[in-house]
Amino acid sequence: MCGIIGYSGHRPAVPLVLEGLEHLEYRGYDSAGVGYDLNNELMVVRAKGKLKNLSEKFQGERNALTVTCAIGHTRWATHGAPEERNAHPHLSNSKRLAIVHNGIIENYLEIREELSQKGYHFASDTDSEVLINLIEDMLSQECDLLHALAAALKKAHGAYAICVLDREDPQRLYAARLAAPLIFGQGIGENFIASDIPAFLAYTRDVVFLEDGDILVADSDSYQLWKSSDLTPIQRPVQQIQWSMQAAQKGGYRHFMLKEIFEQPKVISDALSGRFEGSRVLLSELDALPVPKRLHIIACGTSFHAGLWGQHLLEDWARIPVQVEIASEFRYKERLLLNPDQDIVLVISQSGETADTLAALRMANEIGVPTLGLCNVLGSSVAREAGAVLYTQAGPEISVASTKAMTSQMIMLACLALYYGYRSGNLGVDECLQNIDRLQRLPLMLETALPEMHSTARLLARKFSQSKSFFYLGRGHCFSLALEGALKLKELSYIHAEGYAAGEMKHGPIALIDPTFPTFVLAPHDVLYEKIKSNIVEIQSRQGQIIVLTDAESDLHGVDIWRIPSLEGPLGAFLILPCLQLFSYEVADYLGKDVDQPRNLAKSVTVE
Ligand code: M6R
Repeated sequence: MCGIIGYSGHRPAVPLVLEGLEHLEYRGYDSAGVGYDLNNELMVVRAKGKLKNLSEKFQGERNALTVTCAIGHTRWATHGAPEERNAHPHLSNSKRLAIVHNGIIENYLEIREELSQKGYHFASDTDSEVLINLIEDMLSQECDLLHALAAALKKAHGAYAICVLDREDPQRLYAARLAAPLIFGQGIGENFIASDIPAFLAYTRDVVFLEDGDILVADSDSYQLWKSSDLTPIQRPVQQIQWSMQAAQKGGYRHFMLKEIFEQPKVISDALSGRFEGSRVLLSELDALPVPKRLHIIACGTSFHAGLWGQHLLEDWARIPVQVEIASEFRYKERLLLNPDQDIVLVISQSGETADTLAALRMANEIGVPTLGLCNVLGSSVAREAGAVLYTQAGPEISVASTKAMTSQMIMLACLALYYGYRSGNLGVDECLQNIDRLQRLPLMLETALPEMHSTARLLARKFSQSKSFFYLGRGHCFSLALEGALKLKELSYIHAEGYAAGEMKHGPIALIDPTFPTFVLAPHDVLYEKIKSNIVEIQSRQGQIIVLTDAESDLHGVDIWRIPSLEGPLGAFLILPCLQLFSYEVADYLGKDVDQPRNLAKSVTVE
């Protein structure tokens, strides 16, 4: 959570840092701030609320334009309310040092107490202000800031990505990471440090992914990496990022979310590209691993729903028993029933930085079970720590609500099911070919269907946006989509929504049905169609309002029947999911909600 950026170069640093923060705002947006040196004094400008409040503070401010080194922060509050005094950067007591910090220092109260006894005082409730004063305290004992930083980081426990500015050397940035992302961007006569690549992608594509325990010191022309434990110099490879800057911009859409929904046909073809050879699925990343006897899928939020959907295919096509678990539950189980000789743990994470998912991955690694990461972000912690990685290649997902990332995860899960099905001999050549053909037809089908889906979503959103609660019902693979539909509606529009397995309705939830409580039913014309029709009748006979999402084959008629092209079997999900996303998007937009940055949320949940 929180986004940090640092710049040292030849351009006006404050506007550049503000621009970078715009690309990091998805990580947290309850307050923001910028720090820089002006005539040997560290200036800190901070504002509560969205970034525009901070930008307004610089209007007409000419002095700030002269500086060429600055740090910035956009915050998702952990310690201390989202107030200006808790916003970053934080200054040390002597005002020599300023810090921006993403993460949590777990033993900050203890350190704060120790520092207080030495006479330090604190203007905020944050752990970050404690950390910068700890660094300052170490500076009085060590020979220079690099050694002071390393000594302080030895004492501080927890997670951090930090960037520090020193009034005594104001063109140099000091940065470090542990369990929070930090990427160095190497330019010509300018260098960058940020929580995510889009923050500086307009200026350089050459990046170095810092690893846990790294310290980086950079000025405009050079940089050096050190191991924070003993300060030995280290080298890390410079990698070239292939995304275009357009991928991180709205490209004419009202919101990133809408753009990302409409990108899904391309996301599907990108994920499938190079994955097939005749009836074979090519996942060379996994060739060295055996086909598991049991697969454990672990994830959070939308990625968890993708895992639940994938379970159907893996069990059906590959005949592998699959257990799907929420990472925050898995990680605290007293007994993990994992068999290193037979099982594989698959963690799914768009960001690759979700704290619970990462903890689950580490536990599995410790036990010695082969691990596999399915993630979108190159060089992320999941990508680096999993035994093998499958990248979803969805490109940057900026909107906090996940859309195209889920689609790309589902595509890779479908490929995985085909791959294991083929390898284990459970799927014949014809079945493989048939499903590969269906997968390859998806991009065009979806691209053709999206405009009409969008119009229907808009009409239905107008009609239902005043509802206070919603059910989403599905059966089979559609149950996971019902959960996702409900999550999308609540996170974007703040309307209460619950996803249910349709067959569960009569075991309690149906008591809620009345004319004001609508239900969104997923009813593709598949093997469970007749069953879900019975559920629809049960709701109708209790005067419940219903939206039925069904396909061309169905014989359902009524007011709010939303018909989409039919696609047999679970791959129909790739047409159902965008409808759910568009409906939630339109409801939230109609209600005037902040679609890309819903309240209380952040894109990557790097804290527990
Ligand atoms: O980056 P991850 O896939 O690990 O994130 C997991 C969840 O935090 C995420 O899917 C969240 O539920 C979405 N914002 C929902 O739209």
